[in-house]
Amino acid sequence: MKMTREQKYRMIEQAEPGEIASLEKKVEQCHWRQAFHIQPPTGLLNDPNGFSYYQGEYHLFYQWFPLGTDHGMKYWYHLKSKDLATWNGAGIGIAPGDYFDSHGAYSGSALEHEGKLYMLYTGNARDEDWIRHPYQCMAVMDENGHITKWEHPVISNVPEGYTDHFRDPKLWKDGDSFYCVIGAQRTNLTGCAVLYRSTDLHSWEFEGELRTGLESFGYMWECPDYFELNEAGVLIFCPQGLEPSGDENHNIYQSGYVIGKPLNTGTRILEHGPFHELDRGFDFYAPQTMIDPQGRRIMVAWMGLPDIDYPTDPNGWAHCLTLPRELTLHEGKLLQRPIPELTTLRRNREDRVADTLFSESKTYEGFTGTAYELICEVDLLSAKVFGIEFRASETEKTVIKYNAVSRKLVLDRSQSGEPVATSYGVVRQCPWDKDHIKLHLFVDASSVEIFVNDGEEVFTSRIFPHPESDEIRFFADKGEALFQAVKWDFT
Ligand code: FRU
Repeated sequence: MKMTREQKYRMIEQAEPGEIASLEKKVEQCHWRQAFHIQPPTGLLNDPNGFSYYQGEYHLFYQWFPLGTDHGMKYWYHLKSKDLATWNGAGIGIAPGDYFDSHGAYSGSALEHEGKLYMLYTGNARDEDWIRHPYQCMAVMDENGHITKWEHPVISNVPEGYTDHFRDPKLWKDGDSFYCVIGAQRTNLTGCAVLYRSTDLHSWEFEGELRTGLESFGYMWECPDYFELNEAGVLIFCPQGLEPSGDENHNIYQSGYVIGKPLNTGTRILEHGPFHELDRGFDFYAPQTMIDPQGRRIMVAWMGLPDIDYPTDPNGWAHCLTLPRELTLHEGKLLQRPIPELTTLRRNREDRVADTLFSESKTYEGFTGTAYELICEVDLLSAKVFGIEFRASETEKTVIKYNAVSRKLVLDRSQSGEPVATSYGVVRQCPWDKDHIKLHLFVDASSVEIFVNDGEEVFTSRIFPHPESDEIRFFADKGEALFQAVKWDFT
């Protein structure tokens, strides 16, 4: 049931007696609770925020509305980890409710400076006429883990030429200057990202718009992230309002990147190549990156999308985050690899198979489950199609396959279980032209992440199968395919 505006914009202290306990009970009974992904205790999770390394630990926050599965009053929920694989909940990081974030502590990022962790985020405020006023606000974590919000925002107005859709600052440091990019909408209703500069994190100067080649590219850009990788400049952002074309842009909103020369912070020119979607699956949005002490650029995203109902809504919770992935640059594109630390989630038992399939579908001893990692390498000999059906039963299956005739990798969730967002299609695909394919799957109670050939392509999706749909079948159509696979159950 949808909440009224008043119900949605309540602080957690304003919950009715027993309301949270009854939500918790519904959540507990849900068979789509994840085994190894970050998910909210109750309510709705969306963007990852403040992803950082501080005082010997990784810190990650997420957008959280505790009291329901609507996009209501957003908090930052805080998690910590020593290894990026196992996370401990640390409770509320930033609570909204001041004049500058009266209607939510929206997305933002974190940066360590002089022994403290600075978190720059968007305060979402609404006035009596429900007009939105975005503020950019600072909260600081000290050595003892205490987080204090500053009394006033550091950026209190939206510059001329932009609407109140102005949010999601991503911080970085270059020399003696701090910068942030902010997602914006021009008054002509096109999206862009703008740049601010500061020398002390207190006072911020509006430098102007990032000058990209994407003048008219959607009506709003959310969650921009700028960084440099191997001397290239990378801008990740989430444009809203792109039209689908071919295999591209089939989700309600997109998440992608452009790569080019490093941003010239003086002229704000970013010379870049084409826009690429980051992910080929159904549920991926609002990614955020950080650089870790080993120099790795690591990305986490929301495994969900705005403005879509999900099957867990009636169970009082919604969404999870993706697994952390390391980004590297290869031939003008970003590769995404699951971080090696995830191997610590493997249980002792290991199942292996090597076989040749000839126009058939087969199952193997040990190859079943609802939470596992599976690596399958295949060589297509004469087969027209090779694929894996997983979370399968007589009536359900999720399918990843390579079709050598159309030369496409295809993820089919038409029979995955409880349907979701079917008006946006039930199949996602992308071009592929290699006969040696490595499919690296992370399957959880209600999701799958598939890394193809070490992150050349990734399919990230929620699926909502029955808990008893746990079969794994390997198949080849019209010919021969040689494959080997290894599987580890998870936590
Ligand atoms: C993206 C987003 C951000 C905003 C946040 C609010 O999913 O809409 O632009 O800061 O979510 O929760």
